[in-house]
Amino acid sequence: MAELQNDRFLRALLREPVDRTPVWMMRQAGRYLPEYRATRKEAGSFMDLCRNKEFASEVTLQPLERFPLDAAILFSDILTIPDAMGLGLRFETGEGPVFDKPIRSMADAKKLYVPDMASDLGYVMDAVSTIRKDLNGSIPLIGFSGSPWTLATYMIEGGSSKTFAKIKAMMFDQPATLHHILDVLADSVIAYLNAQIEAGAQAVQIFDTWGGVLTPRDYNEFSLRYMHKIVDGLKRENDGRKVPVILFTKGGGQWLEAMADTGADALGLDWTINIDEARARVGNRVALQGNMDPCILYASPERIREEVATILAQYGNGSGHVFNLGHGIHPEINPEHAGAFINAVTELSGQYHK
Ligand code: CP3
Repeated sequence: MAELQNDRFLRALLREPVDRTPVWMMRQAGRYLPEYRATRKEAGSFMDLCRNKEFASEVTLQPLERFPLDAAILFSDILTIPDAMGLGLRFETGEGPVFDKPIRSMADAKKLYVPDMASDLGYVMDAVSTIRKDLNGSIPLIGFSGSPWTLATYMIEGGSSKTFAKIKAMMFDQPATLHHILDVLADSVIAYLNAQIEAGAQAVQIFDTWGGVLTPRDYNEFSLRYMHKIVDGLKRENDGRKVPVILFTKGGGQWLEAMADTGADALGLDWTINIDEARARVGNRVALQGNMDPCILYASPERIREEVATILAQYGNGSGHVFNLGHGIHPEINPEHAGAFINAVTELSGQYHK
């Protein structure tokens, strides 16, 4: 495999020296880009876009044509795993994802199985290898998965939720059922991410979007424990290069030390913690990714640049920082504001790496 032209993202995740702070955005391929909306229309639906490797690659590359990003992220979704388990995934406009066959009992849970990566999820691996080919060694490709807890919230609630009433009722009253579900999911995520790595993903991120709704005790038992199992099961090197693992628990700022104990290479931060405090707490055990409030992108380009400068100064000198938003970019954001953010990172960060 040819050398990467720009590997500062992978180097920063491993806390190796870089010339400037690398940057990418969660949800960088998506509805805030008119060219994304056009391709999605052509594809028919969101899942049709994910299932077609040419379309998936096209939308993955769209933000790279606009902005000097240091990483690409596979265009897919975390709900591909429960979809492959036969839960009947639909995306309803205005409603988000819906599962026709949610999991509510031990009998339902016992029917779950680890999907076959080639026959059930081969379309994801085809997208990974197509994107790698189309990137042509320019920047690294990130693979991803949801955490078992986060996937289970959708599978048990039957879609998005504000209260997490059903999964929490199961957690309190039928913990053995929930543990069974999480265990099958952890095995599925290990197989899924290892298949993405073998297909060409050069780093992987685990999205624990809903870990932050748990008490500290329940986070340890129902979310972190399974992410730890995943980190232990991942292939950490491919094609002669380390494959860094990023753990992102939204709302997980109070648990960084425990998250670092999993052996992940980097932790994703949302905007509810100061990155200097996070750095002081984790020391040089892990790199940090984040953590600008995505709502800053509604402000003026000048204000965006100021915020970038503040976060860069808070992190301070040296490698180990990947700049990102603290969560995905919102669909209403003006792409020019996203550009102002990325340019600010590329222009202002060199001074911290002398
Ligand atoms: O970051 C990227 O650019 C890569 C693509 C990506 C998508 N989803 C594309 C997508 C990634 C990494 C995800 C992860 C994902 N999916 C998460 C975890 C990340 C996070 O935000 O915390 C979650 C919780 C999901 C589940 C999901 N997928 C929901 C709740 C929705 C509906 C959201 C909405 O606002 O309608 C999706 C659909 C989805 N996934 C879209 C995109 C671009 C929008 C689909 C569309 O209408 O075109």
